[in-house]
Amino acid sequence: MPRKIIIDTDPGQDDAVAILLALASPDELQVLGITAVAGNVPLALTQKNARIVCELAGKVDVPIFAGCDRPLARDLVTAEHVHGKTGLDGPTLPDPVMPLQEAHAVDFLIETLKREPAGSVTLCPLGPLTNIATALKSAPEIAPRIGGIVLMGGAYFQVGNITPAAEFNIYVDPEAAEIVFKSGVPITVIPLDVTHKALVTRPRNDAFRALGNRVGVAVAQMTDFFERFDKAKYGSLGAPLHDPCVTAYLLRPDLFSGRHVNVEIETEGRFTRGMTVADWWGVSGRAPNATFIGDVDAEGFFALLTDRLARL
Ligand code: BDR
Ligand code: CA
Repeated sequence: MPRKIIIDTDPGQDDAVAILLALASPDELQVLGITAVAGNVPLALTQKNARIVCELAGKVDVPIFAGCDRPLARDLVTAEHVHGKTGLDGPTLPDPVMPLQEAHAVDFLIETLKREPAGSVTLCPLGPLTNIATALKSAPEIAPRIGGIVLMGGAYFQVGNITPAAEFNIYVDPEAAEIVFKSGVPITVIPLDVTHKALVTRPRNDAFRALGNRVGVAVAQMTDFFERFDKAKYGSLGAPLHDPCVTAYLLRPDLFSGRHVNVEIETEGRFTRGMTVADWWGVSGRAPNATFIGDVDAEGFFALLTDRLARL
């Protein structure tokens, strides 16, 4: 039986690859729905991009919902400087024709978690945690029904990308992140410490392109586009595939390693808004609330991803 998941996302090229990897893996993952949130680009674009990506994969039956258009308590910060004006700059892809669902993403989350057997649905947030936190706030009774949350966000050794102290997804809506990290739901965190090891080097990009299908070429073009930012900033070898690490973790947790630690979200710091204060060394005495991933077998990750994208 495939594991039931809901992907909460703000596509974003790396979100797109994460979605494609999930849609390419129906034996292991059943995507109940995709919920869009404002993040890399505004909501009107993230929900559209989610539909573009499903159509690229030929999976037009996946229900897609629009969610929150701004963080709980702050103005929206976006990342066009990384992802381009559309959020999916790189390939030229047709406007989607598949519909956006009428229901709000938060209502879909709550209704699905109440309907499905307790513990059977895993949430996979790939953007700011606004939708998930809003669902937990409006219907706290869903918390014990969530099987787990596997999210991309935060950093410990790499500290920050959007500020010196904070990773983008957590920085955009730290109040939402705080609600999620205090929810008691089993959480797995895939931080920058891991995703900065999942780099699309030139041979890896060539391998996507060489798949010869539409998806392989589009993924190569997406990573061609958004590698510019990280190459210039970090001098890295290519684009970091942040969000696909979440999907890969669901498929092959053996490729990853981490520690069960306490993670607190900084919501008040003058310079440290959105910092994930991960007690990697166990010095705080605070109870562990998350599995914080620290390492990935990058070769294994890219072998898995390339193999799966070939199936679309
Ligand atoms: C995260 O921020 C976004 O720009 C990416 O899509 C990823 O989810 C990395 O910090
Ligand atoms: Ca994202």
